[in-house]
Amino acid sequence: MADTQEKKQIILSGIQPTGTFTLGNYIGAIRNWVHLQEEYDCAYMIADMHSLTVRQEPAKLRQQILSAFAVLLACGVDPEKSLMFIQSHVYQHAELNWVLACNTQFGELSRMTQFKDKSAKHPENINAGLFTYPSLMAADILLYQANLVPVGVDQKQHLEITRDIAIRFNNNYGPTFTIPEPYIPEVGAKVMSLADPAKKMSKSDENQNAFITILDPPEVIIRKFKRAVTDSDMEIRYAEGKDGINNLMSIYSVLTGDSYETIERDFSGKGYGDFKLAVGEVVAEALRPIRENYDRVMKDKAYLEEVYRAGAQKAGYTAEKTMRKVYRKVGFLAK
Ligand code: AMP
Ligand code: TRP
Repeated sequence: MADTQEKKQIILSGIQPTGTFTLGNYIGAIRNWVHLQEEYDCAYMIADMHSLTVRQEPAKLRQQILSAFAVLLACGVDPEKSLMFIQSHVYQHAELNWVLACNTQFGELSRMTQFKDKSAKHPENINAGLFTYPSLMAADILLYQANLVPVGVDQKQHLEITRDIAIRFNNNYGPTFTIPEPYIPEVGAKVMSLADPAKKMSKSDENQNAFITILDPPEVIIRKFKRAVTDSDMEIRYAEGKDGINNLMSIYSVLTGDSYETIERDFSGKGYGDFKLAVGEVVAEALRPIRENYDRVMKDKAYLEEVYRAGAQKAGYTAEKTMRKVYRKVGFLAK
C-alpha cells in the first residue's frame, strides 16, 4: 500500500547547545517537536556549529552538546520516529553554507535583528560567523528539503531569509530546493522572562530568577514563579499592559490546555500569589518526568553514542544527495 500513501511532509528544526534549555525552549520549540513526529517526517539537530558564533569553552561545549542531545530524548523526541543528529557530524552543512553564503547579500544579512542584538551584547567578538549565521541555518534546512520548520517567533526572520535564499537559488540555477514554511505555535511562541516580562525568557540571562530551566527541581520552579514580576493590578485577566500576568496565563494555558476564559473564571477573586503558585505547580509537574528521564539517559553514554552516530549516518546520506545536486547546478565538475 506504500505507493498509495501520501508522502509525509518533511520537518527540520535545530537548537543550540548553549546552556540548559529553558521553559521557553520547551514550550516554544521542543514540545512541539515531540507532537509533530507523529504526523511528519522529522529531523531534529543540535546546532553546535551555530554556537561557535559566541565564544565557548571547549570542554564545557562538548558536555553541553551531549546533554542537549539527552534533553531531546528526555522530552520525548524518539529516534525510532525522528532523525536526530548533531550538526557538526554532517559535514555537508558547512559545504552548503559556503555555496549559500555566495548567494546571500550583505544588505539582507545586515537587517537581521539577532545579529544586531548579539553584536551589541558581545562588542568584543563581532565575528564573520555571527554575521553569516543565517546562511548556515538556511543550509541546515535546505539540505533536507524541509517543508516546515517549527521554531519560536524569534527565529521567524531567519526563516524568511532562508526562503529568500532558496527562491533566489532556484531562480538562478533551476529547481533545487523545497521552499520551507515557518511553523510557529499559536500560544507560547514567546515565553517571556519572569523578571522582566517585556523581554524573552533566555538561558543566557544573567538573572537566574528570570528563567526556568527544563532541569530545575520542583522547589526551585515554584520559588521562581512566586517571585515572578507582575503588575499592581489585582485581577487575573489577559489584557494589554499586563505582560507578567499574560505570560503566566500563556504558560498555564499551554500546559493545561485551559483557555484564557477558563483560567479567568477559575481564578476570579483569587490573588496573584495563588495564581503564581498554581502556575509553578503545573510547570513543575510537566517537567518532572523530563528531569527523571534525563537523569536516566545521561547515565547511558553508550546508548547516546549509538543514537547520534546512527543519526549522523542517516542525515549524511540525505544531505549528500542534495549536495551532489547543488554542486551540479552551480557548475562544479563531478569527481
Ligand atoms: P535558542 O535557545 O535561541 O537556541 O532557541 C531554540 C529554540 O527555542 C528556537 O526555536 C527558539 O525560537 C525557541 N525559543 C527560545 N527562547 C524562547 C522563548 N523564550 N519562548 C519561546 N520559544 C523560544
Ligand atoms: N538558529 C536557531 C536558534 O538559534 C537554531 C537553529 C539552527 C535552527 N539551525 C536551525 C532552527 C534550523 C531551525 C532550523 O534558535
